[in-house]
Amino acid sequence: MCGIVGVTGDQPALPVLLEGLGRLEYRGYDSAGVALQSGGALWVRKRAGKLSELVASVGDAPAGATAGIGHTRWATHGRPNDANAHPHTDCGGELALLHNGIVENYLSLRARLEGAHELRSETDTELLAHLMEERLADGATLADAARSILREVEGSLAIAVVHASDPELIVAARRVSPLVAGVADGAAFLASDIPALLPYTRDFKIIDDDQIVELRPGTLRVTDLDGAEIEPPARRVDWNLEEAEKGGFPDFMLKEIHDQPVAVEETLRGRTTADGRIVLDELRLSEDELRDVDKVFVVACGTSYHAGMVAKYAIEHWTRLPCEIDIASEFRYRDPVLDTRTLVVGVSQSGETADTIAACRHAKRLGAKVVAVSNVVDSSMAREADAVLYTHAGPEIGVAATKTHLAQIVALTELGLYLGQIRGTQLPSHTKRLLEELAEVPDRIRSLLTDSAKEVERVASQYWQTRDFFFIGRGVGYPVALEGALKLKEISYARAEAYPAGELKHGAIALIEPGVVVVGVATRSRVHAKTLSNIEEVRARGATVILVATEGDEDAASLADHVFWVPETAELFSPAVDVVPLQLFAYFVAKRRGHDVDQPRNLAKTVTVE
Ligand code: F6R
Repeated sequence: MCGIVGVTGDQPALPVLLEGLGRLEYRGYDSAGVALQSGGALWVRKRAGKLSELVASVGDAPAGATAGIGHTRWATHGRPNDANAHPHTDCGGELALLHNGIVENYLSLRARLEGAHELRSETDTELLAHLMEERLADGATLADAARSILREVEGSLAIAVVHASDPELIVAARRVSPLVAGVADGAAFLASDIPALLPYTRDFKIIDDDQIVELRPGTLRVTDLDGAEIEPPARRVDWNLEEAEKGGFPDFMLKEIHDQPVAVEETLRGRTTADGRIVLDELRLSEDELRDVDKVFVVACGTSYHAGMVAKYAIEHWTRLPCEIDIASEFRYRDPVLDTRTLVVGVSQSGETADTIAACRHAKRLGAKVVAVSNVVDSSMAREADAVLYTHAGPEIGVAATKTHLAQIVALTELGLYLGQIRGTQLPSHTKRLLEELAEVPDRIRSLLTDSAKEVERVASQYWQTRDFFFIGRGVGYPVALEGALKLKEISYARAEAYPAGELKHGAIALIEPGVVVVGVATRSRVHAKTLSNIEEVRARGATVILVATEGDEDAASLADHVFWVPETAELFSPAVDVVPLQLFAYFVAKRRGHDVDQPRNLAKTVTVE
């Protein structure tokens, strides 16, 4: 996600902004910018690329500026370039605004503002600057204009604004995207994340949803949507910088596992209507083109492939289109049957995986329509594809994919539902009910992270030295088993094999003996009873059994040595919930084994070789 820093005081603001942005670099970003107050005018500079590009370009900044705002951007709307970098200004260049989050009613706002304002970027953020410009022209104060943004704009936002007419003032507002503020040594500070401000203060005010904060040198004033003053909760932070970067978690991986409810919410944001339809305006393929599709291929590698397997089940079930799933590195070499009526979905969090790019290019050459599902705006895959569906998990730093995986599952199920909707293979009432279910997934993950993590850690502490693990599941439980095994292999270096539960007896069951741990994905589904029969088979051969099971399922519990309970979830969405205890299990086993979970051996975050 993007980073925000702001300061107003009696010392030069630019060094504070650049240092603060530097402290947020670890989160990943693609461009950076600052706006400074300079004697009744604003000075704005923004650059695509690393922060060093911005630093190299600020030699002519006004030396005496003591107030300003700065931003590192992780693109969501519009490519990473100078024009799309924040801050954005109003038509007259008197107001500068930066933003973290996603504006959901972007298209309607853009249509409304386009004729009346000179739009200079492709971003959703610039629209907010022009909206505020209109409110100010109507006589609103800067704080009231920010209040009206919270009222009019749908989506997640943390904004910070400066206006040339009030050189000491910074106004910020928040809904969903985090914002903290603090006061120290005659200055007031603002940031999206605590690490940015640690050199200046350890005492923070946590700004909550639908609150507006006005910063002046040495003071903060926080108000609600009605303008009533409020006292936000204070928080003292004792973390060192490294702890602060990880949000207080010991590793990025654990932090990112806990980021997952938000990653899912952000990926769902703006893609459903109140009357229960799915809207994927960004897809760039017309409904007619999608109606013409007669076959779907999903191509991906590793964890993305496992998300693609879930999509296969969902797409076939909801659209009745045949859907094949291919390992990207195998796809082109097996001469797949593709033509202009084939839809190929390339899934890659980085959008730079060489094998997946090559598979998508091959599909395009044969005339297929290609949709990229990527977490990185303007990645190579996103640029080359006919259409793109972004996941909005934010930057993932741990090498082992977690939150991007859940976001992929959600984006792909959205795509499946959308295809079903426009092809008429789903009743509107059914789609509506499914979307209501999907909206419940973030809270299910939240409750499981609160309720089950301790038990997973306890079980991991019992089996961390085990040599052989088997992961089994049926239906959509099979990709969950594959992903659970992959996570364990990647970070704990344990041997872990995954099988469709019914396939075990055709060979691999020969390896089951006392001392082997079998992890079964056995949540309630149409194949639940059959999965439990397969669990009986491994129990009979002396394996230790750990089950991922639906809360309250005593039949499953009676077959298991240990149970990771998960809340009941509609079957085709259940992988996004059921995989979470397995991520945690891999994490705790790896920690017990003393491994660096964020940088596992031999692995890279982006695999750009075939
Ligand atoms: C597993 C993992 C890898 C990636 C694979 C594809 O934790 O991270 O298996 O999933 O290399 O990467 P992307 O999604 O970037 O194409």
